[in-house]
Amino acid sequence: MSDSVESETIRNYYNVALELVMKCGPVACEGYEQADANFKTKSAFYDVVTVYDKKVEDLLIAGLQKAFPETKFIGEEGTAENNSEPVLTNAPTWIIDPIDGTTNFIHRIPHWCISVGLAINRELVVGIVYNPIANEMYSAWKGHGAYLNGKRIHVRKCTEMNDAVLAYEVSIIHAASVRDKYVKRLSKLAAVSTGTRCMGSAALTLCYLASGCFDCYHVEDLQPWDIAGGAVILREAGGVLYHSKGGEFNIMKPDLTAAATPELVKIMVGLIEEADALTDFTFK
Ligand code: IPD
Ligand code: CA
Ligand code: CA
Repeated sequence: MSDSVESETIRNYYNVALELVMKCGPVACEGYEQADANFKTKSAFYDVVTVYDKKVEDLLIAGLQKAFPETKFIGEEGTAENNSEPVLTNAPTWIIDPIDGTTNFIHRIPHWCISVGLAINRELVVGIVYNPIANEMYSAWKGHGAYLNGKRIHVRKCTEMNDAVLAYEVSIIHAASVRDKYVKRLSKLAAVSTGTRCMGSAALTLCYLASGCFDCYHVEDLQPWDIAGGAVILREAGGVLYHSKGGEFNIMKPDLTAAATPELVKIMVGLIEEADALTDFTFK
């Protein structure tokens, strides 16, 4: 496929997905008004889902499938339903988190979003992250920049931890086997940052990094759908994503250290290594 044909194809995927995600906003908001009455737990008491997660995912898949029958899907709720391990092939694949930040959604914290990413040949090329409560539509497609409500966004070119706002999340704090490790990492990183924030939506956190509100982010034990949309937006805004301890970022095992600049990632990786040297891993 020539570059211009590839570009046109991706643009078409982007335009259709953007419109569809926008249309799902009011549906999700309807649930936000009454989410408390509509949630159930999934694998554990802290793993919650509402009927609106499924509703939004079904709407997205139906719309995308109709427009692009050749595409495949990795959706959070479908994966949970089938009890399957998601597999990414070379086929164009939509990676969907219908509501990222479900705990916020249920507790009426207006910080959650609908997140859609598209991978082609296993490369992430489209990202759409929409917070309908805040009326914030973040979007990007490969090589064409990142946008918030149609206005170009960029990372803040921060290179020092003492100038950085750190976003940090312990995704599975309930697991005793990893708690000590992540608390030690937090202690090292937060001690030298201007401020530390934990927002409860990985996708929006990447967008805040992309728009210069945050400067760096470290989190492990996430799933592809938490990150796919936001990863494209961050990269197109000039930011970088690596595996937690440096090395190539893998969307199917998104343990991640992301930042506005590679300099910041290097410093973070050094601090993470120092923290891990203090951790007794024999407990695992
Ligand atoms: C969660 C959010 C949160 C992260 C959790 C995820 P969900 O997604 O992305 O920021 O720390 O690990 O599970 O469950 O609200 O879609
Ligand atoms: Ca999620
Ligand atoms: Ca979700």
